[in-house]
Amino acid sequence: MGEGRVAEVDGTVVGVGMRWLWGERAATVGLVVVKPDFRERGIGRKLLEALCAGLDRRTVLLHAAGTIHRFYGSMGFERIGEIRQYEGKAVQPPLMALPENSRLRPGGRNDMQLLVGMDERAGGAVRERLIQTWLRHATATVVLDHPDGPRGFAILRRFGRGATIGPVVAPCPMAAKAMIAHLAGLVTGRALRLDVQAHGELEDWLPGLGLASVADATVLRRGTALSPANPLLSFALADKAIG
Ligand SMILES: CC(C)(COP(=O)(O)OP(=O)(O)OC[C@H]1O[C@@H](n2cnc3c(N)ncnc32)[C@H](O)[C@@H]1OP(=O)(O)O)[C@@H](O)C(=O)NCCC(=O)NCCS
Repeated sequence: MGEGRVAEVDGTVVGVGMRWLWGERAATVGLVVVKPDFRERGIGRKLLEALCAGLDRRTVLLHAAGTIHRFYGSMGFERIGEIRQYEGKAVQPPLMALPENSRLRPGGRNDMQLLVGMDERAGGAVRERLIQTWLRHATATVVLDHPDGPRGFAILRRFGRGATIGPVVAPCPMAAKAMIAHLAGLVTGRALRLDVQAHGELEDWLPGLGLASVADATVLRRGTALSPANPLLSFALADKAIG
């Protein structure tokens, strides 16, 4: 799905990083790591420059752990938000009401273009390859249908020894919670993970599913904001590194 770059010293790989290109306008950079013995020598900077090469016309996003965002700040990235990783053993979720006139139905591979369109309306990037891959690996997908057309979706997939839910795209928190509760109910008793916007409307509710916040990351952007027309809201990321 993405492209990698490696840094070598005397023929030995000492650093790696990834980038993912979305349509013509957006990209994500992430998973940048330099071997501990080779840090603070400018290798990370060169790796990031190589990953960003040719992306000047695109908006580049990345998610940085801990205080590492200073490293990216010196390279033209600005902080635009925070994400929080929730994990725990999923408990039986509460019954959640749906917005008026909406209903949930199972999603499948035939829904790919529909999901790509809704994902774009939430994040502004055309992430066709990501949605295609996640749909292929999905344990379950739900689509929020409405007489005026679909308004959201959520994907449950295996993650390590447990499961993760994301992306979650919805018109409102009520709909996001209904989709998450439905999918969490399929993995009750198993390890579950969600990466959500910090200070968002799910944060008070996720502990009721048995999940607790275990890590934070800073969202950084280089270039102009991606602002889709008729936007939907993104409630959970597809992946912490990818966004
Ligand atoms: C982040 C990381 C890739 C930096 O690699 P590096 O080779 O040490 O970086 P460089 O030597 O090129 O440093 C580039 C700049 O970042 C700064 N920097 C490096 N590590 C930093 C840190 N931990 N915190 C804050 N700033 C840091 C350097 O001071 C330098 O700034 P300057 O050019 O203004 O002096 C490396 O520390 C690492 O692998 N960390 C663990 C993995 C990680 O956290 N990756 C990021 C998550 S995607």
